[in-house]
Amino acid sequence: MNILIMGGPGAGKGTMSARIVEKFNVNHISTGDIFRSEIGNGTELGLKAKDYMDKGMLVPDELVNNMVKSYLENLEDKKNGYLLDGYPRTLDQAKAFDELSKNSDLAIDKVIAMDIAFEVLAGRITGRRLCKNCGEIYHLQSKPPKVEGKCDVCGGELYQRKDDTVESLTVRLDEYSKQTAPVLDYYEEQGIVTKINADQPIENVWNDVLNALEK
Ligand code: AP5
Repeated sequence: MNILIMGGPGAGKGTMSARIVEKFNVNHISTGDIFRSEIGNGTELGLKAKDYMDKGMLVPDELVNNMVKSYLENLEDKKNGYLLDGYPRTLDQAKAFDELSKNSDLAIDKVIAMDIAFEVLAGRITGRRLCKNCGEIYHLQSKPPKVEGKCDVCGGELYQRKDDTVESLTVRLDEYSKQTAPVLDYYEEQGIVTKINADQPIENVWNDVLNALEK
């Protein structure tokens, strides 16, 4: 099964993605994570993406489309399909992905849309902490680590993303409304979208996601 998970910044895409990947044994393709890894490794692509990401702006379509294309072409194990997280998030990206996936087994089967009011997202974003080592996602209020600053899973150090500020969030929400909301309409017209109420406790959100994917 090929899945796309969509939603605004902090809607809970990464939190649900970890569970989907484990449950359905699909490849997790998170364009945000790939860019952060490229930045961490100091690659040319990372250098090109860094300024946009720090400001909360979208990275230019051409860079993202080429990155996803090469990522998919180089996948050694196709597993049970993929989970796209954070891509496509412009109409141009959606059309480029249609082109890439036509006449192949790459077409998107289901879209999970994480529905949540923008007002909730500032608290989600500013309270988020991530493990430097394994990527586990925490929140200071809703999912605090047992030991402050340390990952429960691997003991790694927790950090805050550079774009997890209120200033950057304002830009990210604006980008979402202008560029990504039309992508959701695009997939709704294809009848493959399930909207999930993302403003509930994590376990309840997961139950709804699971129901949508097992349907
Ligand atoms: P990306 O990494 O994709 O970030 P994002 O879309 O802004 O989403 P986030 O990762 O911030 O949030 P999330 O929905 O995964 O929430 P999470 O589960 O962590 O993109 C970053 C940047 O990369 C972009 O701004 C852009 O510059 C660039 N980029 C990436 N893809 C691109 C593309 N295709 N085109 C162009 N540029 C691109 O949850 C958030 C917090 O809430 C956590 O602390 C979590 O513990 C908590 N939480 C989660 N669920 C719940 C719940 N139900 N109740 C309470 N707390 C919860």
